[in-house]
Formats: sequence, C-alpha cells, structure tokens
Amino acid sequence: MTVNVTVTGAAGQIGYALLFRIASGQLLGPDTPVRLRLLEIPAAVKAAEGTAMELDDSAFPLLEGIDVTDDAKHAFDGTNVALLVGARPRTKGMERGDLLEANGGIFKPQGEAINSGAASDVRVLVVGNPANTNALIARSHAPDVPAERFTAMTRLDHNRAIAQLSKRLDAAVADVKKMTIWGNHSATQYPDVFHAEVRGQNAAQALNDAEWLRDTFIPTVAKRGAAIIEARGASSAASAASAAIDHVHTWIHGTPEGDWTSMAVVSDGSYGVPEGLVSSFPVVCKDGKWEIVQGLDINQFSRERIDASVRELEEERDAVRELGLI
Ligand code: NAI
Repeated sequence: MTVNVTVTGAAGQIGYALLFRIASGQLLGPDTPVRLRLLEIPAAVKAAEGTAMELDDSAFPLLEGIDVTDDAKHAFDGTNVALLVGARPRTKGMERGDLLEANGGIFKPQGEAINSGAASDVRVLVVGNPANTNALIARSHAPDVPAERFTAMTRLDHNRAIAQLSKRLDAAVADVKKMTIWGNHSATQYPDVFHAEVRGQNAAQALNDAEWLRDTFIPTVAKRGAAIIEARGASSAASAASAAIDHVHTWIHGTPEGDWTSMAVVSDGSYGVPEGLVSSFPVVCKDGKWEIVQGLDINQFSRERIDASVRELEEERDAVRELGLI
C-alpha cells in the first residue's frame, strides 16, 4: 500500500538531501510506494517546486506523486509519516524565549493539523530545532494521536557517537552496539558508552580511558554540529537527512537483535526523567513500536550528565508552558 510521507521545510538543505532518499525507497523499504507532500512557507514554495521537478526527473519507480503546498492542513491530510524539518532558526540577538515562541507558532498549528487530518497510524519525527521541545509542543496539540507517535531526532548524535568510538578503537561501525544518547538534542546531550559494546566487549572497559571519554569524546559528539559549520561553511544536512532516514526506518522495521538505538520519546518516568518530557533514551523497536530499554545501571558520572540535560528540557518545557504553547 502507498504510504503518504509529509516533509516540512522541504526547500531547505536537509529537505534536499532527504527527499531523494525517501523517493528511492530508503525510508520505507524497496517494496513500498510513496506519495510525498512537501510543506513550505509561501516564500519557499517555488524552490520546493523546483525540488519536486528534480524528483520527477529522477523517475523513481516507487514515487507515486508529489504535492507542494503552504497549507499545513493539506500537507498532513492522510499522512502516515510526518517529518517535521522546517523550523525557525535562532538569529542574532534572539533570546531563547523568542526562539521557543517563534517555533511554537510553527509546531502548534502543525500538531493541530496532524490531530485533525493524519492517518490513524501516523508517526511523527521532529528534526527542526529545538527538536525535543518542538515535538512536545506539536504533541500537546494532537490529543487524539497516541503520545508515543511523536518523537524527536537524536539519531544523528547517536551515529556521531558510534563513528567517534569506532575510530578510537579502530573498529568497524558495525562492531559498535548499544550506544545511547540521553536527554536533549543540544550541547547538554549525554552520549553514554557505559553500556555500549565493541566487538562484544564493554566499550568503557575497552577504552579504559576516563579522560578521553570526558574531555574528548563527549564534547566532540556534543559539538560536532558546530565543527561541521566551521569546516563546511554550512550546517550538517546530508548526515542529518541520513539520520532521519535511519530513525524512521528503525522505528518501522525494528532494531537488530542484540542492539538498540537512541530516540527522543515521551518519557514514562523511566530513569527519573519526568513523565511527559520528550527526552532521548535507549530504545528497542519491534513491530513498528518503540520501547525504552529498562534496567540499565546508571553510574554517578552518567547520572549527573543525564540530570543536567533533563533539567534543560524541564526549563524549555516551563518556558513554553509560560508562553501558553502547551
Ligand atoms: P534550512 O534553513 O536550510 O531549511 C529550513 C526550511 O524550513 C526552509 O526552507 C524554511 O522555508 C522552512 N520552513 C520554515 N518554517 C516553516 C514552516 N512553518 N512550515 C514549513 N517549512 C518551514 O535548514 P536545514 O539545514 O534544512 O535544517 C532544518 C532544521 O533541522 C533546523 O531547525 C536545524 O537546526 C535542524 N537540525 C536538526 C538536527 C537534529 O539532529 N535534530 C540536525 C541538523 C539540523
């Protein structure tokens, strides 16, 4: 059956990298035809139409149609997978409250449109920053959609952490399992290797280097976005699109046996993360559903870092609550 996929911010740089991979079958698999809905602001509709022309020109066998619109209601009508990429970036002199408010103006109506028009199996991935809190805003305006269908992306951080660890230990990325990103997709995120495995061995033991972990690994993963901007002169786009593909593909098709992934999902109170916050956890996916991995021992080093990131999420939640956005 054809799957309707909505992509917001379709004319942006992540959109440009993402759409072709969706249309080629990498999001849903090689047997699933897809219909794309591209949502943009009016000023960028023409650019999105240009991308749609290029999608046509690629003659993807699985692509059944493309709609470009600036109307959220139309964009989310009947959608099965919604990738919320478009967001308001922080501009010079903008306070955090202004940023949250501007994004509330985007994610509130999009949540409402998903609530009223999306398919009953809709799955939502928020990529646009501040991703966790944007997901919280959208979710709180979609009361008829099960809360677990709203997720935010920390898969790029997860993939970055795997890449850094595999390089350090001279291992293949496929040899790294059970990586975890906890908390917010921001500089406070906590990449946790204490439960990770490399070639079947515990990663922290294999490293045996607390200093590298604290002073190099964690800041490198957390600040990788800034390093990419510095090197490329533009923010990460293809790797972000790749992570979005991974996130949804894993959610639908499942995590491999003996492994898990990281997704920001609505907390049920696990690991002391207040219920309702959209926070990153280790999750396993099966039969199209995610579940937080339970029973992990959290050491003091990890506890402090998880708590700091969760505190930031609470502050963001309190700020959007004060603004009447949730
Ligand atoms: P971009 O600026 O190239 O594109 C954003 C697009 O969103 C623009 O075309 C803009 O017109 C559109 N847009 C703005 N408001 C919209 C609305 N209300 N409805 C539909 N479209 C709207 O930005 P880029 O590089 O594509 O990044 C997109 C977002 O993803 C940013 O917020 C960025 O911070 C975030 N991001 C998140 C990552 C993650 O790991 N969660 C990683 C990398 C980027």
